[in-house]
Amino acid sequence: MAKLGINIDHVATIRQARMGIEPDPVFAAGIAEQNGADQITIHLREDRRHILDRDVKILRKTIQTKMNLEMASTDEMMKIASDIKPDTVTLVPEKREELTTEGGLLLTNAHLSVIRKLKQAGIEVSVFIEPDLKMISKAKEMGADAVEIHTGKYANLKDESEISQEVEVIRKAAHFIKKLGMRVVAGHGLNYFNTQRLVELGIIEEFNIGHSIISKAVFSGLATAVSNMKTIVE
Ligand code: PXP
Repeated sequence: MAKLGINIDHVATIRQARMGIEPDPVFAAGIAEQNGADQITIHLREDRRHILDRDVKILRKTIQTKMNLEMASTDEMMKIASDIKPDTVTLVPEKREELTTEGGLLLTNAHLSVIRKLKQAGIEVSVFIEPDLKMISKAKEMGADAVEIHTGKYANLKDESEISQEVEVIRKAAHFIKKLGMRVVAGHGLNYFNTQRLVELGIIEEFNIGHSIISKAVFSGLATAVSNMKTIVE
């Protein structure tokens, strides 16, 4: 059975809109875990636009499942990862101007020492890359333990035949990752309509999903939230 990692960055994004204390992603992590999450995924960005250093520190103490820290391969993030020791570090590309992580990481020789150092610190290393066989081979050569396939392209397609083609690309990539002995992970843009098809491939071991779950949570909670406030106002 595939595992589900919940990305709680989106809760922190709402908090940061007011730079206040609510909603607290630490609470979100607890609720996610109580309802079946196998892992909590957070991305500490250089610009701290959502998850803050304080969240990372508290979550390390409160997460009862697994902590997956997404980060860029910078000296600052390497220091934080070696202090915090998440269960997994997922190396992602990061651009200041992007709204979210656009496109997979292009692995270069510079990643070799980053991966080695993280592994020496006892941290599992996953790399967030496109479903590209050459890049997957490179991930293996560099010592990655897992590959997270960037499913953004698949998620954005509308044409049925293009979707089928992309599913085939993901299927082949997933089998190649497994053949090379790495863990097969997928994420980005997955929602209540497009996830099932990838689950049915039966090869992806873990999904990391955030935006669609937090979006759904807004609507499943809105009626109660309004009615609670109505009681106060009356
Ligand atoms: N996996 C990785 C590596 C990501 O960067 C993201 C986006 O933060 C996700 C999964 C989750 O994507 P989404 O929020 O679109 O579900």
